[in-house]
Amino acid sequence: MKYGFSQRVRYLKSSAVRDILKVVNNGNVISFAGGLPDEGLFPVDAVSNAYQKAIQSNRKALQYGETEGVYHLRQQLADRMKQQKKIIRQPEDILITSGSQQAIDLFSRIMFNPGDVVLTENPTYLAALQVFSSYETNVIPVKSDQDGMLENDLEDKIRRLKPKCIYVVPTYSNPGGKVWSLERRKALLQLAHKYHVVVLEDDPYGDIQFEQDDTPPTLASMDQNKYVLYTSTFSKTVVPAMRIGWIVGPHQIIRLMTQAKQAADLHTNAISQYALVHLIQDFDLDQHIQVIRDTYYQRMLVMKRLLDQVNIDGMSYIEPKGGMFMWINMPETINTTVLLQTAVDHGVAFVPGAPFYVSDPKESTMRLNFTNATPDLIEEGMNRLVSVMKKAQMQSNEKAN
Ligand SMILES: Cc1ncc(COP(=O)(O)O)c(C=O)c1O
Repeated sequence: MKYGFSQRVRYLKSSAVRDILKVVNNGNVISFAGGLPDEGLFPVDAVSNAYQKAIQSNRKALQYGETEGVYHLRQQLADRMKQQKKIIRQPEDILITSGSQQAIDLFSRIMFNPGDVVLTENPTYLAALQVFSSYETNVIPVKSDQDGMLENDLEDKIRRLKPKCIYVVPTYSNPGGKVWSLERRKALLQLAHKYHVVVLEDDPYGDIQFEQDDTPPTLASMDQNKYVLYTSTFSKTVVPAMRIGWIVGPHQIIRLMTQAKQAADLHTNAISQYALVHLIQDFDLDQHIQVIRDTYYQRMLVMKRLLDQVNIDGMSYIEPKGGMFMWINMPETINTTVLLQTAVDHGVAFVPGAPFYVSDPKESTMRLNFTNATPDLIEEGMNRLVSVMKKAQMQSNEKAN
C-alpha cells in the first residue's frame, strides 16, 4: 500500500537520543545517555496525595477544561515566577502546556512559514531542532562560546537573514551544560529590541542550580513582556510523567498559541493540573528542589573527579554550574559515534554530540548525564568509560605514528 503522506514528513526526524535509549535500556549497561531525572528523588507520596485530592475534591479535575489551563495553577505560576525569577507577568499571559516540548511546538506552529529563519546555538536542544525542522524552517547556528552567543555574529545574522525567532537555552543548557553570562544576555536582548526579533527562552533547568545566587537573571525578567517568550516545566523538579509545562509572554502570541492548542489537544491533562495545584499548596516544593540540587551537585562532582583523572591530551569539558549534563570535547581524532559502540560493549552509554548540531557537527563531542545514576553507578560507569576513552586515544596515537 502506498500511503499519500504529506511533504512535511520529509522533515520529521527520529531523535538520536531516543534511538540510543532504546538500545541501552536492556542488560547491564550503565547509561549516561538519557536526560532523565532520578526516579529515587520523585516525591511519590506528595504526588500520590495530590492526585487523590485532585480527583476527590473537585469533579472539574475529571471534566473538560479551559485551553489556557487551570486558572489557579496559572496564578501559582505567576507568583512563583515573580518570587523566584523576577518575571512579573499576569496569569492571563500564561498558557499551560503538555510539557515545554508542546510549548515549543505550538509557538512554532503560529510563528513559522516554510523557509523562515530561526537562529540557535550550535549545538542546541535536539528536540527543539526536530520541531523547527518539522515546520520546514531554516535553522541557522550563531557562533557562541561558553558565555553564550557572540554578539557580532548574532547581529550580522539578524541583519542579513531577518530571523523570525532566536531560540536559546541560556541557563544550564542541554546539551552544553553552560550558563550565559549577564553581558551576553543583555546583548541578546538589546539586539532583539533593536531589530524586533522574538526570543524563545527555554528554561527547564534553571531551578537546578548548584551554588546559591550566582545564576544570572532570566531573559524574561529583563524584558517588558514584549520580545521574550519564556517556557519552563515541572518535568525536572516534580515528575516528567505529569507532562505539565507552561509558556508566558506577550498576550497576542499566547492568545494565538491557545487557539493552536485548541486544535492540538483541547487542553492539558486536567487531573495533572489540579494535582499540581494541591502539590504546590501542600508540599514544600522549594525544599524538595533543594534536595534535587544538592543530590545532583554531588553526582556531578563524582563524575568530574573521575574525568579529571583521565589525562588525555586534547580532551576538555566545562564544569556545569547546574542542570543535568556534562559536555565533553574529546581529541579531534576520536569519533564518539564509533566510540559509543565500544562503550556499550563495555557496559556504558552516552550520547555522541553530533546530533545536537544544526550543521558542522563536531564528531569528537559527547554528552554525559549525571542525574540518573547513583554515585556508585556513576563511579562504575565512569571507570568503564574512562578505560574505553583511553584505549581509543592509544589506538588513534598508534595510527598517527
Ligand atoms: C532544553 C529542553 N527544553 C525542553 C524540554 C522538554 O521538557 P518537557 O518534559 O517539559 O516537555 C527538555 C527536556 O529534556 C529540554 O532539555
